[in-house]
Amino acid sequence: MISFKDITKEFKPDFWKPSFLALDSLSFNIPEGCITGFLGANGAGKTTSLKILMNFINTNSGEVEYSRALGSTWNEIVSNIGFLPERPYFYPHLTGLEFIHYMGDLCGVKRSTIAERSAKWGERFKIRFAFDRKIRGYSKGMLQRLGYVISLIHDPQLVIFDEPLSGLDPVGRKELKDAMREINDLGKTVFFSSHIISDVEEVCDQVIFIEKGKLVYQGQIDQLIKSKMKSEVLFKVKCSPEKLTAIGIDSFAGIGDGKFKFTTLTIDQNKTIRNLLASEISILELSPKRPTLEEVIYKVGEF
Ligand SMILES: Nc1ncnc2c1ncn2[C@@H]1O[C@H](COP(=O)(O)OP(=O)(O)OP(=O)(O)O)[C@@H](O)[C@H]1O
Ligand SMILES: [Mg+2]
Repeated sequence: MISFKDITKEFKPDFWKPSFLALDSLSFNIPEGCITGFLGANGAGKTTSLKILMNFINTNSGEVEYSRALGSTWNEIVSNIGFLPERPYFYPHLTGLEFIHYMGDLCGVKRSTIAERSAKWGERFKIRFAFDRKIRGYSKGMLQRLGYVISLIHDPQLVIFDEPLSGLDPVGRKELKDAMREINDLGKTVFFSSHIISDVEEVCDQVIFIEKGKLVYQGQIDQLIKSKMKSEVLFKVKCSPEKLTAIGIDSFAGIGDGKFKFTTLTIDQNKTIRNLLASEISILELSPKRPTLEEVIYKVGEF
């Protein structure tokens, strides 16, 4: 839906300081119809990339390509994107609903449609109850929720959220993740940045992972895990720890009631089973171990 092609971005803080390379020949694409997570540590270049994508700042080189599905002119393209910035600004003297109407008007949405959509999304994001209050009295999470409603007010095909989960409590995070799935089920493409890897793993089909302005990985999470981690199996057994050490298993953890768990590489599975049976150790459970995305990402040095 959107392709980043060889984008380089330098910032020059002031005349005397050398320029700083924030994005270094960065290429990736946001596939249509998917929920894609944009991962990277603080300062990796996520917000800079999103600002370039929204045409808020220029690049030094490279280009962003927008698919025809979004439109052929910049006006058409931008009216098909719903964007929630990392630090949005809301007019504090307006009520939530007044601000929604103001933004909806700017996007050219009919008043009756704004009323309909704000009721629907306001209910969905549990902020409708505060629509009549002045924004100055909103909490951080309430502002965030108002931001989601506004980003959907013009019914965009692509929604882009910069750190949407950061100001939310655990219940709010779960609600937003469910909402992102619902938005995606409506046929919309969702792209959001985060450094909370488990949130991304839970909700995304695809990840784009950047480090110091460079692409580390783009693709499906399952493939990343398969390609980067050796396949392992998890054993749970009941015996004395000495019996395990006697057959060469040194790394195990007690799980109570005289039971222990340990992992071996899948290729060593049969040998381990034979050794356990020969020592009359009862195998309680044998299952494939799926590493988390977190474990994979922390092995970044191996990429
Ligand atoms: N306007 C600017 N002037 C100078 N440097 C900037 C500017 N904007 C961003 N940078 C630098 O570019 C790098 C990338 O910043 P960016 O905000 O894109 O990171 P990020 O991945 O969004 O981080 P975070 O997770 O903390 O939001 C950082 O080192 C930042 O200091
Ligand atoms: Mg950021």
